Amino acid sequence: MTERLAEICRRIPRGKVFADIGCDHGYCTRYVLSHGLCERAYLSDISAGSLRKAEKLLSRSIAAGKCFAVVADGMKGLPERADVVLIAGLGGEEIVKILEEGYLPEKFVLQPMHNQEKLRAYLMAKGANLMRDYTFADGNYYYDLIAGENAGGKKDYTGEELFFGRENLRSPSPAFYGKWRQEETKLRSYLSRENLSEKSREELASRLERIEALHL
Ligand SMILES: C[S@@+](CC[C@H](N)C(=O)[O-])C[C@H]1O[C@@H](n2cnc3c(N)ncnc32)[C@H](O)[C@@H]1O
Repeated sequence: MTERLAEICRRIPRGKVFADIGCDHGYCTRYVLSHGLCERAYLSDISAGSLRKAEKLLSRSIAAGKCFAVVADGMKGLPERADVVLIAGLGGEEIVKILEEGYLPEKFVLQPMHNQEKLRAYLMAKGANLMRDYTFADGNYYYDLIAGENAGGKKDYTGEELFFGRENLRSPSPAFYGKWRQEETKLRSYLSRENLSEKSREELASRLERIEALHL
């Protein structure tokens, strides 16, 4: 298992029905079942080919009736409501779409690859309580993890907290600085190109301004 997956697994809370949406390989569900974190688990993926990998990995749990595999778009195909849901490795917008078309579960672990700001804004608007919201590293790659509950949120994130994550701003980690230094370098390189549209240039420059305000 990669360090990214290990970090995600460490954040999965105990529950009754667990669902791994966009499970692909199924490693996280294997962790959940082997650690007794749920009574039953659903593996779900929009791609039958991806799901087959997870079905193979979890064939014994499937045969034992502890795990069920469903080809589905988001949560739509699940035969029952899961109280703990993991959605990892998808874009923030895709995660919002899945939650919007499905439901905000009692407990969730989300690992958006990009558009974290949109996901945070969505969760805030839903009144979710973001118990963890931080950046971590796996080698030279940086990831964000957002874990929380569907109630008890105060809807009080500032614009900067939506962009960077509250926990990151309150107690910045080396991974957080690493991510934004990497992003700053990328943005400067994009902005040095001459063939950028005015709109793209403005968007990139405004992103860079926000990062510069961090005084990395
Ligand atoms: C990059 S992989 C991530 C796999 C795993 N969750 C992880 O974090 O390593 C994304 C997976 O999500 C699946 N996927 C994409 N959109 C989906 C959707 N709307 N509903 C269910 N699965 C989806 C893809 O088929 C793919 O297997």
